[in-house]
Amino acid sequence: MRFDVITLFPQVFEGYLAASIPRIAQEKGLVEILLHDLREYAEDARGTVDDRPFGGGPGMVLMCGPVFKAVEDICADKPGGELLMLSPQGERFDQRLACELAGRERLVLLAGHYEGFDERIRSGLQPHEISIGDYVLSGGELAAMVVMDAVIRLVEGVLGTGESVKEESFSGGLLEYPHYTRPRDFRGMKVPEILLSGDHGRVAEWRAAEALRRTRQRRRDLLGKDRQKEPEGEPDNK
Ligand code: ADE
Repeated sequence: MRFDVITLFPQVFEGYLAASIPRIAQEKGLVEILLHDLREYAEDARGTVDDRPFGGGPGMVLMCGPVFKAVEDICADKPGGELLMLSPQGERFDQRLACELAGRERLVLLAGHYEGFDERIRSGLQPHEISIGDYVLSGGELAAMVVMDAVIRLVEGVLGTGESVKEESFSGGLLEYPHYTRPRDFRGMKVPEILLSGDHGRVAEWRAAEALRRTRQRRRDLLGKDRQKEPEGEPDNK
């Protein structure tokens, strides 16, 4: 899978891409990530990419020229990729959307900065606009990394077995069950006996029940209408 990222700050991606899962995914040759500096697509020698808004008001607006040129150049060699634009006005990003995007061969991510994008970037390029939550970041770079991270770990082969993806939070529509590791007793807090029993069937049942209980307590909105009416159950620390 190939990612092209268009940004004014390619350097902020470098630390993230050199670490952990994104690094492994690139080393395995499963994912290719190309960073493109938007300033290189400026139409003047000074590298201007933003300007004051018509009609007045605070901040600067990203100009059409450099953004169109960047997208058109980058897509010219290999058309067919999906253009994603990171913005607080976009569709809310979630695990379902991450799974959908993980099925694409190529994603082109446009990370803005400053007050926003010239509206003709939306109407002319028709990007899939994505928000990572109802808050305003100072730029789309962190949002682009969030989207890439959530997608890359779903690309087949990146996480090894595939089991960890299947079992984690949201994949079954529920939050994940609690995990424990050694020691069995930490300052009097004990690992539930059932996890030490070696009975895989009972462990699986316990985990399913815990995932449901945790979701009821913390994120009722994730449950279907009927399940939302069920009682909340015991609090987490019981
Ligand atoms: N750019 C600024 N805020 C954002 C958000 N919440 N999601 C995506 N891109 C953004």
